[in-house]
Amino acid sequence: MRSAAGQVVVITGSSSGIGASAARQLAARGAVVCLLARRADELEQVRAAIQADGGEAYAYPVDLTDDAATHATVEQVLADHGHVDVLVNNAGRSIRRSIKASLDRLHDHERVMAVNYIGSVRLTQALLPSMLAQGRGHVVFSSTMSTQLPIPLFSAYLASKSAVESYARSLAAELGHDGISTTIVYFPMVRTEMSGATDIYAAMRMMSADQAGGWLVKAALDRPTRVTSLAGAVTEAGMAVLPGVITKVSAPLFRQMDRNLRRRTRS
Ligand SMILES: NC(=O)c1ccc[n+]([C@@H]2O[C@H](COP(=O)([O-])OP(=O)(O)OC[C@H]3O[C@@H](n4cnc5c(N)ncnc54)[C@H](OP(=O)(O)O)[C@@H]3O)[C@@H](O)[C@H]2O)c1
Repeated sequence: MRSAAGQVVVITGSSSGIGASAARQLAARGAVVCLLARRADELEQVRAAIQADGGEAYAYPVDLTDDAATHATVEQVLADHGHVDVLVNNAGRSIRRSIKASLDRLHDHERVMAVNYIGSVRLTQALLPSMLAQGRGHVVFSSTMSTQLPIPLFSAYLASKSAVESYARSLAAELGHDGISTTIVYFPMVRTEMSGATDIYAAMRMMSADQAGGWLVKAALDRPTRVTSLAGAVTEAGMAVLPGVITKVSAPLFRQMDRNLRRRTRS
């Protein structure tokens, strides 16, 4: 993996979970990390820990659903560091709710879209002019393996992640020749505050936040088109060829998985 020495990396969602771990790992490799999220105290803790370990980090508390605040933050980051080499769009929110229980909850879609899709596009487009002016820039998007194989009960969340993936592909296709590259990261389940919100997931085997942070480091430094598990890549290929069959076979398996997890959580 390449060194991160001197690279200015903006990481959203770095007040906790995968983003906080990625920030620590990138700073340990020499990156100057700019930490973005809403919770100022948590951001400060991550910043202070990085600094205590000899790294260089700066905290920029911001709500990425706020247009004016996001643009002001980008101006501040550019004023402080002159340029940004890598943007990691990792901030996100998830909602686990069935479609039947969401028929009068269109706001579920609006809320996750506001962060996962619009928030990512807003920040990317605010930084793009400076990246285009310098003739290079890499943009990473945190997505999920569940867009490769749709897990039930996450319709709003998965739609927002599929939307951001599509934007990432357009960005690479349209601006690749201007030096802009992208990586989509398809995480499996990861043990963080987000997955912890679903009680039955306590019984599920998951990737650690540090392992997942390592995937973001790979995305930021090696810059592949995607970072995925083998299972994700295989199911994605299967869905491309036989979407009906794969969905029919996998949906009952997911329901069975939830029943097993519920039983194990209670015992
Ligand atoms: N955990 C999993 O199983 C899993 C699986 C697949 C993909 N992912 C993706 O991985 C990414 C990181 O999630 P995580 O698991 O590490 O969960 P997490 O610990 O809950 O992190 C989510 C981060 O997003 C930030 N955030 C949320 N809304 C924001 C807003 N409006 N403005 C700015 N920041 C905001 C949160 O910070 P504040 O609350 O301080 O704003 C937090 O730092 C997400 O994009 C998620 O969809 C996670």
